[in-house]
Amino acid sequence: MDASSVRIRFTLNGQPRSAEFPADTTALKLIRDVLKLKGTKEGCGIGECGACTVIVDGKAVNSCLMLAAQLDGRTVQTIEGLGSPEALHPLQEAFVKEHAVQCGFCTPGLLMSTKALLDINPAPTRAEISKAIAGNLCRCTGYRHIFASIEDAAHTRKEQT
Ligand code: FES
Ligand code: FES
Repeated sequence: MDASSVRIRFTLNGQPRSAEFPADTTALKLIRDVLKLKGTKEGCGIGECGACTVIVDGKAVNSCLMLAAQLDGRTVQTIEGLGSPEALHPLQEAFVKEHAVQCGFCTPGLLMSTKALLDINPAPTRAEISKAIAGNLCRCTGYRHIFASIEDAAHTRKEQT
């Protein structure tokens, strides 16, 4: 390890991981370019679009604004840890059912912001949903279907508990 590189250990999608990278690497670069998890998207790169949202210790964060070194010892979830093509997460099912996905570029970030919300607030109001996804820009859907998906997922979850 040279002087300008950093080594971290953290939990990624339920698995212990370690990684070494230059000290100025962002969490987004680590996830996409070092670990090759391409589900997390790079949009603006400056904290304004939410495409890069991941969950760190239960909170939705813009990974483009975080240094990868800050993930040391923390628990990280990316879209790859949410569901699989064979077994979609209920939130993913709701997005499909309610037609909330068009080009799909914003979808991973929106799903991660929403998951972080529903994990702490299983029955959010529309205002609470609005606040939770305020940082996630969607250029395609007009948001009506996205709100419907989130409300549907919350409702389904409530019925199952
Ligand atoms: S890429 Fe991180 S907020 Fe846009
Ligand atoms: S579905 Fe295209 S940006 Fe949201």
